[in-house]
Amino acid sequence: MKRKIIEFKDFNFQYRVQAEPTLKNINLTIYEGEKVLIVGPSGSGKSTLAHCLNGLVPFYYDGKMTGQLKINNEDIETKNIFELSKIVGTVLQDPDSQFIGLTVGEDIAFKLENYCVDQDEMIEKVEKSAKLVDIDKEINESPYKLSGGQKQRVTLAGVTVDEVKVLLFDEPLASLDPATGKSAIELIDSIQKKWRKDNCYNRA
Ligand SMILES: Nc1ncnc2c1ncn2[C@@H]1O[C@H](COP(=O)(O)OP(=O)(O)O)[C@@H](O)[C@H]1O
Ligand SMILES: [Mg+2]
Repeated sequence: MKRKIIEFKDFNFQYRVQAEPTLKNINLTIYEGEKVLIVGPSGSGKSTLAHCLNGLVPFYYDGKMTGQLKINNEDIETKNIFELSKIVGTVLQDPDSQFIGLTVGEDIAFKLENYCVDQDEMIEKVEKSAKLVDIDKEINESPYKLSGGQKQRVTLAGVTVDEVKVLLFDEPLASLDPATGKSAIELIDSIQKKWRKDNCYNRA
């Protein structure tokens, strides 16, 4: 049976500084292995919805949630932003704002360093993650020197390095030229297919 990974039920969110809720009566269920595109005009609340999933709302952007939001079958209110980052991996629109390491490898390893993973395991995981997104040849480069598409791959390797359950992209094509955008779509597709192969078939 398909497993629910995200479930909004009669969900509303209002920023503290706003007079009206930005998200109104959201009912949306997303199942494991699905790839879902959320479309709407600028200002319609796409990023706000994403921030409710990764914890930026309410931990960074204050406001009031009502209704229910479950991720991986657990109520979002029981999770802090650190716990959520282990479940939801976010790739922001502007990759430069997300880099922390001086090299691609360091950047990918950052999350694991926070979890005190031992060094051999860390190297293995970083290499695997870099290979998955085809950025392994640039592992010793500075992330800032890379092209827009390569930067996005580094960010993606950084969030997938510890096997998150949800990959969240906020306008992933916005800063890319059309050809790089096409390869970003193909990359997202291939990660999803690989995930389904690794997870769904052996559970059936
Ligand atoms: N940090 C914030 N503080 C207060 N209001 C915000 C904030 N971010 C977004 N909003 C409000 O939420 C609405 C939706 O914004 P957003 O989620 O960024 O939409 P989208 O990503 O679809 O362009 C905006 O019109 C604005 O009124
Ligand atoms: Mg947005």
